[in-house]
Amino acid sequence: MTLTQPSVKPGKPGEPVRPDQRPPRGEADEAGGKEGGVRAVRPGPGAAALTAAGPPRLWVIGASGFVGQHLVAAAAGAFTVLTARIELTDATAFDRAFATLRPDCVVLLAAMSDIDRCEREPALAWSINVVGAQRVAEACARLNTRLVFVSTGAVFDGTRHGYRESDPPTPIGHYGRTKAEAEKWVQHHLPSAAIVRSSLVLGRARQPGTNSLLDKWVAAFAAGRTVAVPAEEYRNPIDVQTLSEGLITLAARGDAGGLFHLGARESRSRYELAGQVARALGYPPARVVPQTDPGPGRAPRGRDHWLLCADRPGLWPPPLPTCDQVIERALYGVTQSHSRVGV
Ligand SMILES: NC(=O)c1ccc[n+]([C@@H]2O[C@H](COP(=O)([O-])OP(=O)(O)OC[C@H]3O[C@@H](n4cnc5c(N)ncnc54)[C@H](OP(=O)(O)O)[C@@H]3O)[C@@H](O)[C@H]2O)c1
Repeated sequence: MTLTQPSVKPGKPGEPVRPDQRPPRGEADEAGGKEGGVRAVRPGPGAAALTAAGPPRLWVIGASGFVGQHLVAAAAGAFTVLTARIELTDATAFDRAFATLRPDCVVLLAAMSDIDRCEREPALAWSINVVGAQRVAEACARLNTRLVFVSTGAVFDGTRHGYRESDPPTPIGHYGRTKAEAEKWVQHHLPSAAIVRSSLVLGRARQPGTNSLLDKWVAAFAAGRTVAVPAEEYRNPIDVQTLSEGLITLAARGDAGGLFHLGARESRSRYELAGQVARALGYPPARVVPQTDPGPGRAPRGRDHWLLCADRPGLWPPPLPTCDQVIERALYGVTQSHSRVGV
């Protein structure tokens, strides 16, 4: 699926400038270290002029993560992309950054995304995933800033085959609980916000060290290890590029609020998905084995997270991709700069 979006061409990363040299809105940005620093990716020459004042300023919170890396690359051109890494649990630092950056839109990706870690460190997970999201939504509401918030199929218990956007959340793990709580708060305090749920995002991170499941599988295959994958957990995955395009479309549309499911047309077991990846990369199918015992420390997960996606004729055209298409795009759409897929 190709989602409709403003004409997006990758722009060149902007040169850092000193905080005391902040240029007028829409031209460039402050730079600094990882904490509190700002890097702007300037729009490329083919950028869509979305506002009279220049391309809108999009702050990707969580830019260093798996999805964030792709979103930053995909959004450069249509937006002036801001990638400041602000500690979400630090209210003062966050408010200061928001006032300095003055984004027109925010995509909130930052989260404790490790489901097992959320179970082990529930208080920290809550302060990042719930209180942090509340902080972002509150600032967006106060300053009339567009918000796109990324959530998860784990807000559902996975006991049913197919969940609509209108179905009430029924989380069974702490990660899902934090996301469901954040969703509720965002919906209540900022109804114009778009909340996007995916059940599994597949793709190669552009830089290592992220939450990308595909990277973990590929690393294991390449090292000659087998991968144990649950045979009874079904997901309808989405590839990271299609997700990024969807987030860009929603960020650019101030009139599209509410819940959005984004995933493949059908659901497939994690075991089948991993086997398909192994085969596509030329590894023997035996490299993937069904996981019978989840082992200690694995957080509870729903059996079937098939997110049913409503038709959005004015937003993105059908059809949604099949699982095969998602895997193909996830594997061959982008390869990591530090290694080639499957070799
Ligand atoms: N990957 C999936 O399959 C999937 C599926 C459904 C939903 N999601 C959701 O999609 C979003 C992005 O996921 P992802 O896979 O890209 O995760 P990821 O690779 O783990 O990236 C998480 C991002 O959040 C940042 N972050 C974490 N704690 C933070 C804090 N306390 N303050 C500020 N930033 C913080 C990280 O920055 P540092 O590395 O600098 O800490 C990183 O940029 C998450 O909200 C996740 O719940 C992901």
